[in-house]
Amino acid sequence: MVSSIPQSAPKAPKEGIKQPSQETILTPRFYTTDFDTAASLDLSAQENELQAMVAEMRADYNRNHFVRDEEFAKSWEHIEGKARRGFIEYLERSCISEFSGFLLFKELSRQLKKRNPLLSELFHLMARDEARHAGFLNKAMGDFKLSLDLADITKTRTYTFFPIEWVIYTVYLSEKIGYWRYILIYHHLQKHPENQFYPIFRYFESWCQDENRHGDIFKALLRSQPKMWNNWKARLWSRFFLLSVFATHTLTVHERASFYHSLGIDPTDFDSQVVINTNDTAGRAFPVMLNTQHPQFFPLLHSCSNYNLKISAIERSSQPKFLKLMRKIPLITAIVVNLLRIFFIKPVNTEALKGTVR
Ligand SMILES: [Fe+2]
Ligand SMILES: [Fe+2]
Repeated sequence: MVSSIPQSAPKAPKEGIKQPSQETILTPRFYTTDFDTAASLDLSAQENELQAMVAEMRADYNRNHFVRDEEFAKSWEHIEGKARRGFIEYLERSCISEFSGFLLFKELSRQLKKRNPLLSELFHLMARDEARHAGFLNKAMGDFKLSLDLADITKTRTYTFFPIEWVIYTVYLSEKIGYWRYILIYHHLQKHPENQFYPIFRYFESWCQDENRHGDIFKALLRSQPKMWNNWKARLWSRFFLLSVFATHTLTVHERASFYHSLGIDPTDFDSQVVINTNDTAGRAFPVMLNTQHPQFFPLLHSCSNYNLKISAIERSSQPKFLKLMRKIPLITAIVVNLLRIFFIKPVNTEALKGTVR
């Protein structure tokens, strides 16, 4: 399911332009999909919800939100070493992931314009938000004298093909996990303003409402397609995507522990909170959610993260490639086994809970 657009030869870096970090299994991906199937989706089951969402999106509550105030004009040279590197990596990852959403939504909007005007407008309005988010993050990177050349990344990045159903599952989850990540950092810094080392975090409260709205649009799309929630295949796909998104989150948060420490946040606690909340939220859209309360759930996820940190240490070593690979194989196997063990923990059937107060 992975296709790629031919990659152009690497260019010499320009001054002040950051070369994007190397793509790995954990870096945010760029997606393309089957636009004909997207255009032919029958949305009638959720028509009212989608009409309400388009009205809310047109209201554009955050029209004036992403304006940099005078605090950004300060110097940020005092943020040094590990904290600086960790923060720049965080900004880059966030910027790429927002920009990836922008590209996909913009293309969907363009392709569906004549064939599905309601969906086309929704994607156009979501692309508007994601462009603002990516631009705001890239300007923040500029404060650290390292912006991303987004136009260049558009051309050189690998695009992964996902059928539209997979796009709906994964984008729904990435919007909702984005919401929880932004709001939990915001609430933490409200309680600990001494850790707010850069002004971007003050913007997270309204920002995360954009992600929440995007997630609600994808929830309506998912619920408009009964085959995405009313059969055994849908239940298996839901488990698969929930686990992939949570495992990626746990691994990346622990890889970037220094960033969370600089905010006074314990990465393991933060990761668990994000996973638990996103899982609960997803239970309202998906036919199942994972059993995060199972005594083995987080220990297995955390041991995946520990193995992943060992793999990164091997990668950084100066050993010959072959030796590195031999040392990595048992660790990769251990991660796969742990993920399978989590996958087979009995999930919670949320269809049975829908309609009851949760
Ligand atoms: Fe966004
Ligand atoms: Fe979004």
